[in-house]
Order: sequence, then structure tokens, then C-alpha cells
Amino acid sequence: MIPDTELNIWEHSQNVRQLYRQRSLGEVGEMDASAQGAELLAPFITQAERPPRLLDAGCGSGYLWPSLKKRGLKVEYHGLDYSPSLIDIGRETLGLPPERLICGSIEDLRGQSFDLVALINTLSFGPDFRQPLARLADTGARAIVIRDNFGPETIRRWETDGYLDPGYNHLKAYWNQWQTAEVAGFLAGYGFTVTEVPDRRTRGRVEMVVDKPYYWSWLVAVRPGSLMKMRNPL
Ligand SMILES: C[S@@+](CC[C@H](N)C(=O)[O-])C[C@H]1O[C@@H](n2cnc3c(N)ncnc32)[C@H](O)[C@@H]1O
Repeated sequence: MIPDTELNIWEHSQNVRQLYRQRSLGEVGEMDASAQGAELLAPFITQAERPPRLLDAGCGSGYLWPSLKKRGLKVEYHGLDYSPSLIDIGRETLGLPPERLICGSIEDLRGQSFDLVALINTLSFGPDFRQPLARLADTGARAIVIRDNFGPETIRRWETDGYLDPGYNHLKAYWNQWQTAEVAGFLAGYGFTVTEVPDRRTRGRVEMVVDKPYYWSWLVAVRPGSLMKMRNPL
């Protein structure tokens, strides 16, 4: 089910649409998070009989795909996002078969399998991390690479965005921070070993995202037997 677009903040920003189109077309510099995300996924993308199926959950317009391609990382890319206008941009710009860009919610994933999952800059915008992470773990992925607002405690924020198109600035959304240990423990319950990796762009410093404090960090969740050696599992 696709959530009501009238209340979806991502459907009411001309600036976001323009930026995401430019990113997908490579008209602006590569986003730091796409670059680091591609590098964190790389150890799991090996020359195999078939390229691994990768789900980019909350893909926006799918500009992780050009970052993977640019590095020669061969995957079967699938982007999923619940904002139809961003999915349309991906279909127009990426040169992928249109069905590789899926319009829907992470929470509604059922019965689909993927080898790898990327969840970049998305988890914070939902009411809780558990349902989306459970659905992604259920895909059977051997690794999930997550960038989000992580810290020593969970802080729930339900606030206006303030930077939307005229007429929409009353809309509220979640801008949550998740307790790192709680998320890592939840993923451990699904059999993952979890390692925190510092964010190269922000290096532990706060970044204001539409005036809300974000502490970006990465969690790399790996099922046993996968390729990467874990140095400092949480
Ligand atoms: C900040 S953007 C991130 C886009 C891209 N991953 C990036 O790193 O720039 C968050 C995206 O997640 C999508 N999103 C948020 N919650 C979602 C959910 N539960 N299911 C599907 N898409 C979701 C929004 O539509 C939006 O495109």
C-alpha cells in the first residue's frame, strides 16, 4: 500500500525533486553517503554466477545505482520508495527497466528475497525502526548497510519540516534518533552481527537537517558466513 501522498513530506518539495533528479543524472557531485554506502557494500559484491540482488530501501530516485556502477560493482539493483514522484524520476533517469524502481513501503515487503540491502538516510523518518528492519531482515539478505541518525539514546521527534512547497509547511513528520545499541540488538535477534562504522562526511559531528540535529553513523549488519571479517562488532 502506498501511503497518502497528500500527507507525505517527500511529495511536497520542488527542491528535493530537482536535487534528486540532478543526482540521478549525475549533474551534481556524488552524494557522500552514496559513495560510502557503495564502498561498504563492495565486500559483499563478488564475481558470482549471477550478480547479487540488491534492494535500496528508501531509495529516493535511486542514485545509489550510479555510485555502484561507477565503482564497477555489479548488482541487480532494485529501488523501493513510497514517494511516487521520486520513483518516477528514477524510472526516467537511471536507464533501468522500470520495474526495478518499485513504489511502495518497506513495511509492506512480503515474500521477496534479496541478497543485500541498503537503507540510507531513511529509517529516521518512520515511527519506529522495528517493523521496517524486520521486513528487510525477512528478505533473507546476508548484509544490511544502514546510515541513520544514531546515538546513545532514542529521541522521538514529530515536527514540521518547514522547507516544503508553499501551502505544505504545516505537515509534520518523524525526525527520530535511534539508540545504536537497541538497533544493533534488534538486528542481532535476526542473526546479524553488527558493526558501527563512522560516517566519513560528518565524523561524529552534528549535522542540522532542516533544523533538526542528526548524528549520522553507519551500521553494517552481516549474517554469519558472509564475506566481510568483522573487526569491532557491537
Ligand atoms: C532522505 S530520503 C533518502 C533517499 C536516499 N536513500 C538518500 O540517501 O539520499 C528518505 C527517503 O525514504 C523514503 N521513505 C521513508 N520512509 C519510507 C518507508 N517506510 N518506505 C519506503 N520509503 C520510505 C522517502 O520517500 C524518501 O525518498
